[in-house]
Amino acid sequence: MKNLIPSWIRVPVLFFIILGTVEFFVDSGKQPAFVKYPAVLLFLLLVLFILIAIEGIVGSLENVMFQKLSPEAKAKFIAEKNKSAKITWLKDTYIKLLGSKPIEQEGEIILDHSYDGIKELDNDLPPWWKYAFYISIVFAVVYLIRYEVFGGQNQIEELNEEIAEAQVAIEAYKKTAKGLVDVNTVTILTEASDLTAGKNVFQTNCVACHMADGGGGIGPNLTDNHWILGGDIKSIFHTISEGGRSGKGMIAWKAQLKPLEIAQVASYVLTFQGTTPANPKVAEGDIIVDPNAGDASEAPTETSEEGEAEVQPDSTLQTEAEVPAEVISE
Ligand code: HEC
Repeated sequence: MKNLIPSWIRVPVLFFIILGTVEFFVDSGKQPAFVKYPAVLLFLLLVLFILIAIEGIVGSLENVMFQKLSPEAKAKFIAEKNKSAKITWLKDTYIKLLGSKPIEQEGEIILDHSYDGIKELDNDLPPWWKYAFYISIVFAVVYLIRYEVFGGQNQIEELNEEIAEAQVAIEAYKKTAKGLVDVNTVTILTEASDLTAGKNVFQTNCVACHMADGGGGIGPNLTDNHWILGGDIKSIFHTISEGGRSGKGMIAWKAQLKPLEIAQVASYVLTFQGTTPANPKVAEGDIIVDPNAGDASEAPTETSEEGEAEVQPDSTLQTEAEVPAEVISE
């Protein structure tokens, strides 16, 4: 048997080709597939084992055959094997690709012209260069036909298509992922599990200033329909996430609470509407009735300002003049 490539090259090369193929076909995100999926690692180890086993079997078969040969045949076999085992072909191809003539043969290609004693060799173009050139011609033809004649997608179109696909995927994901709420998409959560979660957040973080029943203390009363910073779910989400007016004591909670938690506690805050706390703090801010939440036990008296506050939550953060007397007196 003629060994073109020694086994210490053959085994790793085959192994890495298989590894590369596996990595190419198995979608494993940023991690390599064999790290993410232990089964792949097992498969690769098995492949390696089999490759080595095959080498071993072939080697021992050769040995058995060798024992049966006549002495002359043995000598011939060894000679053959020694010749082929050396990677002469690698060296040969290298020299062929360079295409340069050995110094002894330079006489054949020397031009009979002397430039002040300097002579010129008529070397051929190096084959590696020529082959690369031919390949580039083939590439150009294929490229031209594919993209210019048959109108293949250019990179911008490819990008746009991928972006559109990703957008669809993001939309689909957003629909299922509650945790991605923000101030623009938040809606009142009504599921008991969400309200319980909101209650827990409230009891851990908020009771110190707003009291467990929302009656208020350092922070304003949350049970009435007077709001300093807006009483619709979006405004409340905004207040909790970004905090109240500076210096008043209501910090921005977005660093400590996840968006979903803010949505949950905001929905929970709205369940205080219309309840009667033990020690209600005097109402502060404008009357704002979110049509979707709570009940309006008190008749709205300042309806003219209500609309303004609802459209733009931050508009209630204006000059002191616009904030009702109770707030200023504090
Ligand atoms: C350190 C005391 C303190 C803590 C803790 C606190 N708040 Fe406040 N909260 C305030 C103060 C003070 C205000 C009034 C802010 C202003 O006037 O700008 C306020 C305002 C609010 C408002 C707006 C009320 C309105 O009338 O517009 C809401 C809603 C609110 N807090 C919810 C919460 C929630 C939910 C938590 C827990 C995650 C919390 N607060 C934790 C002190 C606190």
